[in-house]
Amino acid sequence: MSVQDRYISLVAACTLLGASLSLPAEQTSEEAIAEYHAMFGDENPAELWQLRGEELWKTPRGSRQVSLEACDLGKGPGVIAGAYAELPRWFEDTGKVQDLESRLVTCMTNLQGLPESEVLAVKFGDGEQKSELEAITAYVAAASRGSRITIPLDHAAEKAAYALGESVFFYRAGPHDFACATCHSESGKRIRLQTLPQLTTSEGAQAAYTRWPAYRVSQGELRTMEWRLQDCLRQQRLPQLTYGSDVAIGLTMYLARNANGGEMAAPSIKR
Ligand code: HEC
Repeated sequence: MSVQDRYISLVAACTLLGASLSLPAEQTSEEAIAEYHAMFGDENPAELWQLRGEELWKTPRGSRQVSLEACDLGKGPGVIAGAYAELPRWFEDTGKVQDLESRLVTCMTNLQGLPESEVLAVKFGDGEQKSELEAITAYVAAASRGSRITIPLDHAAEKAAYALGESVFFYRAGPHDFACATCHSESGKRIRLQTLPQLTTSEGAQAAYTRWPAYRVSQGELRTMEWRLQDCLRQQRLPQLTYGSDVAIGLTMYLARNANGGEMAAPSIKR
């Protein structure tokens, strides 16, 4: 099938999906996803984001008119195979621990010469405006499918990022006095009909971390880990998470390290 045919068949699947999405109130997230798979098999609209991400990756852009193919995600310039499974990590050139999303911002601004304001203008797509960062993240993450998460935590700054993430995870705050741990440190817990993933064990963290980024059926958008985190902070009624901030990267490091050894299977499909 040509890329164009593939695109058309995916758009058709998405449209059908939108129409079928008036989920019965008593359906759990697992049942909704099982129903989706029964209808569409392994068809995942995330492929649309991957295709767009690939094009963005390979197109010369910015004041320097270069593509992202020289962007170093930690495994050398241009190497994307397995790169996502080893992030976040320490980068010598920026002197920072970075996750994929903040690293992409570095490459788009420093390497391509795109203005940061432009790069960060649409961090998360909203149906009308599409996010380039979400698309490129989908493309790069897909190149880690089947790779094992490898977070050695060798560098002192990586250890510090993990420690920060861990402390935020257990820090109770906001009007409900919730910590991430309130919702995510027991198995089998639910809010309404959503199962709350247990993120403090290796098994629970692997099941969650290996499946992001993900296509969110309820939103018709591909979502990244930074989106997932900011949405949980919102549910906690905490101030908005700054994209690429130490807290965002610390939490990602905490989850990734807890998921060490898990086999990447993203982009996946989520309710
Ligand atoms: C009030 C409860 C609540 C709090 C507090 C909360 N979350 Fe969540 N979180 C959820 C729910 C509900 C979901 C599942 C959403 C869904 O299925 O759509 C979720 C999903 C997630 C996921 C994705 C798991 C998966 O398997 O897809 C991650 C990662 C996550 N949360 C991290 C965090 C972090 C980190 C914090 C603290 C900053 C946090 N959450 C705070 C309720 C919470």
